[in-house]
Amino acid sequence: MSQERGNWGSNIGFIFAAVGSAVGLGNIWGFPYKMGKSGGFTFLIVYLALGLFVGFVIMIAELAMGRKTGKGAIAAYNEIDKRFKWLGWLAVFAPFVIMSFYSVLGGYCMEYLALNLSNLAFGVSSTATGSDLFGSMLTNQFGALVFTLFYILLCYLINRSGVSGGIEKFNTIGMPALFVMLVIVIIRSVTLPGAVEGLKFMFVPGYAVEAGFIEEAPGFLTVLATAGGQMFFSLSLAMGVMITYGSYLKKSENLVKNSVVIVVADTIVATMAGLAVIPAAVATYGTSAQLGGPKLLFVTLQDVFQSMGTVGPLFGVVFYLLVTIAAISSSI
Ligand code: ALA
Repeated sequence: MSQERGNWGSNIGFIFAAVGSAVGLGNIWGFPYKMGKSGGFTFLIVYLALGLFVGFVIMIAELAMGRKTGKGAIAAYNEIDKRFKWLGWLAVFAPFVIMSFYSVLGGYCMEYLALNLSNLAFGVSSTATGSDLFGSMLTNQFGALVFTLFYILLCYLINRSGVSGGIEKFNTIGMPALFVMLVIVIIRSVTLPGAVEGLKFMFVPGYAVEAGFIEEAPGFLTVLATAGGQMFFSLSLAMGVMITYGSYLKKSENLVKNSVVIVVADTIVATMAGLAVIPAAVATYGTSAQLGGPKLLFVTLQDVFQSMGTVGPLFGVVFYLLVTIAAISSSI
């Protein structure tokens, strides 16, 4: 029995959903720390070039495959050429693997949101550092399990309402909200005393080495590999996602225009996430800020919020809420 395939409610709804899929922990968590690890400005330039010359082209190709066949990844590859069906399986396997760690990270984001909410309501109750909090979170397996399950349940409930009624609706509200919250955190981050050093780290060529953030610049191939992996992950490419999203797209929509919007929006949000995170971390820790590791979001940033006094938890709530929305929008 064949079932008729649904459509997005509107093209703008599709754009919000596709941008939502692209904008995720890759942008808010991965981009700033990979930029930190790769010496700032060089990474940004390499990433932009890859987005323009590689990501944009593959985005059009994946959306086109989905729209042309009207099918998900495996069936779409099969329809194009039976010999390539295995690529469809790979494309489905990738998000399966990604979700295995993504849902745990989503649970962590919700745990940090809850922590900052409780700090907001009851005051910062202890002198625990971000590192202490992260350490105790990692060792509390029951807490991690509960938050991960809660996160998966939320995603399931959104998906249960369907492509248009669930995914599209969540992103149509979630993406503009995320953008506004990101702007609020950026304003706070770049106006902290000393934040200008972080801005220079991001935008002045060679500054990371010159100012002593890193001893020597990583090799070009290392930066290329880091930026390349980040680009595929961040744009949700080679994961079957854009093929599937394209399959719900009406034939009359302009794929090139839509791809430009998705790639540009994703890159802007990643750069904005850098602006929200890096200047704040540098303002708090100077050149010894731990910019180059995954702990940037869960340790350094939490310390930054704790050091802001009474308004800190408020920024913490806004920040971890926007990270949670970004994570959900990609998971669904
Ligand atoms: N594109 C998603 C992200 O950046 C997977 O997190």
